[in-house]
Amino acid sequence: MKYLEKVEEVYKEAALNPQKGLCCTTTPIWQLPGLSIPTKMLEMNYGCGSTVHPRDLSNNPTVLYVGIGGGMELLQFSYFTRKISSVIGVDPVQEMITACTQNLNEAEKHNDWFKKDFIKLYKGSALDLPLNDNSIDVAAQNCLFNIFHENELVLALKEIYRVLKAHGRLVLSDPISEVEMPEKLKNDANLRALCLSGALPLKKYIELISSIGFGTIEIRAKRPYRILDNLHYDIDENIFIESIEICAIKDQIPTDGACVFTGKTAIYYGSEELFDDNNGHMLLNNQPLAVCDKTAKALESLNRNDVFISGSTFFYDGGGCC
Ligand SMILES: C[S@@+](CC[C@H](N)C(=O)[O-])C[C@H]1O[C@@H](n2cnc3c(N)ncnc32)[C@H](O)[C@@H]1O
Repeated sequence: MKYLEKVEEVYKEAALNPQKGLCCTTTPIWQLPGLSIPTKMLEMNYGCGSTVHPRDLSNNPTVLYVGIGGGMELLQFSYFTRKISSVIGVDPVQEMITACTQNLNEAEKHNDWFKKDFIKLYKGSALDLPLNDNSIDVAAQNCLFNIFHENELVLALKEIYRVLKAHGRLVLSDPISEVEMPEKLKNDANLRALCLSGALPLKKYIELISSIGFGTIEIRAKRPYRILDNLHYDIDENIFIESIEICAIKDQIPTDGACVFTGKTAIYYGSEELFDDNNGHMLLNNQPLAVCDKTAKALESLNRNDVFISGSTFFYDGGGCC
């Protein structure tokens, strides 16, 4: 695919000459006790959010990180895993692997807890992962999959699904846009490589993830990211891009479809101690319960005047029920 060559060209240049503004992380950099991130690694932070969450990292997981950049999130993951080869990075760009290796060597000098052997790097592609089936607990990608056209995106998701163990999770951060990108932008290989024109609407992204087989999908954060404006780009109207953080879990898909948590909450405020919907959900009086979108819809359809259902906050932080 021609555009994939362009992507590799762009990231070869970004490895040789760090470009601070190339991507734009919408979250503050993790500040953790004893963690010191080398300056060059910070300059090569080419993500659009964060994929490192302590709550995904219990039970000594093996972590896969696809599209390594300068290695900052590899270092952050290894802060939690701290064992040899527990974080595996995959990237097709040799110059990126070299720059990342140098940054990790530098990190070893400034972090007494860190050994560069915690991280193993492979030259390879998200579209053909050099890893065995069912071998990974947590897979992460930050600001890479949006670059892919739909065929390759599906392939990349399938590859992640293949290498994840049962109940393993994909944690991702990517741009999305509720406005459909005009074809000419979509097909501009340079803009795609810069993570500016491959953004999908959130609903479409979720549909693709669940079509691969992920049974639980959590929308953990959604933040304003960029504006493509009609002065700088050949478009009629400005396009608003947001960055999203999603966790997709390799659970069995229930017969009525994947459980998608978009941050909806149900609260029962009637005259009883609790409300039981006889479908697995007990709402204690005036206690918030995070619910998936299917459950929110089912509760809404009861038309009760003592059950409140919030809208999607796009900030789901675990807990609740499907
Ligand atoms: C936008 S950067 C993101 C880097 C890193 N995730 C971060 O947050 O800083 C995209 C990364 O994906 C890599 N990449 C490009 N094509 C890839 C592919 N087909 N498979 C895996 N990684 C790829 C690039 O070399 C680069 O390291």
